[in-house]
Amino acid sequence: VTTSIGIVGTGPVAQALGCLLCRRGAPVVAVASRDRSRAEAAAAFMGRGVQAVGYGDLPGLAGRILVAVADQGLGLVAEALAAAGLSGGVALHTCGARGPDALAALAARGTECGVVHPLQTVMTREQGVASLSGVTFGVCAGGGAKQWANEIVVTVGGHALALDVDRLPAYHAGAVMASNALVGVLDAALAMMARAGVEGPDAARALGPLVHTTVENTLANGPVAALTGPVVRGDAATVAAHVAVLRDMPPTVGALYTAAARRLIDIASARGLAGAGRRAVELALEG
Ligand SMILES: NC(=O)c1ccc[n+]([C@@H]2O[C@H](COP(=O)([O-])OP(=O)(O)OC[C@H]3O[C@@H](n4cnc5c(N)ncnc54)[C@H](OP(=O)(O)O)[C@@H]3O)[C@@H](O)[C@H]2O)c1
Repeated sequence: VTTSIGIVGTGPVAQALGCLLCRRGAPVVAVASRDRSRAEAAAAFMGRGVQAVGYGDLPGLAGRILVAVADQGLGLVAEALAAAGLSGGVALHTCGARGPDALAALAARGTECGVVHPLQTVMTREQGVASLSGVTFGVCAGGGAKQWANEIVVTVGGHALALDVDRLPAYHAGAVMASNALVGVLDAALAMMARAGVEGPDAARALGPLVHTTVENTLANGPVAALTGPVVRGDAATVAAHVAVLRDMPPTVGALYTAAARRLIDIASARGLAGAGRRAVELALEG
């Protein structure tokens, strides 16, 4: 029971991590859900020997608990496990926005608590299994919780990034910008392409190489070297033409273009955009 692993939650993160841990020989014995049939489906996906259980059964089965439930459920789950008699052992959660104290009800019962947060976007369990190996995990934990978090990271072939609890908001905001904000930017780009008559799969295919190469160039060389386009060229007339089109688009699309362009002006200043050239681009953005 001490080293046996119990997983709480049946979402894509719980199922993908559970499956990867099972495949690599970690002793995952049970998955707990509020719903019997969801627990059974998750157990079958994770692997042989994983039991589908309710919260009340976990304390008797596992001494290491990985809580991968929706953020708003973390406190309730910790309270339910504490009420079920869980004490001692280790509990980790996978939310990058909350510290170990999200599981305070368990810490109060002598359980060492921590965070092991995958820096990956997980849309479905299958995609998670395919894309969680080798990623970086934010780890905010001490003692036995840190030890188990690092063990999980090694088991899935990833890298551990040790984080102090007071740095979690900045760290998580960075992750959200890299993933969710990119979704917003791509959505706005697709809306603009639709305005140009390029829609659906055609637009995704057309933009794909541009998006991938931009991400690769930026990560490999840094934003200052990777930036191309009208802002860094000081091409105020082109920016003004874009702003004119944005007037007919949803206001949030225009706001995103403008906010991004303002940040690009700062980046471009490191490449020499200054003085009248910079002012002309700023004026074009103001419309
Ligand atoms: N998805 C991602 O890309 C991603 C990436 C990094 C980290 N995370 C973090 O990983 C955790 C799980 O993410 P996810 O996307 O897999 O979650 P999710 O699909 O939103 O929810 C996972 C499970 O949580 C349980 N749940 C939902 N509301 C609950 C509540 N109020 N009380 C108790 N349980 C509740 C449900 O399981 P049952 O109904 O079966 O009980 C649900 O299937 C979250 O903390 C999230 O922030 C997610």
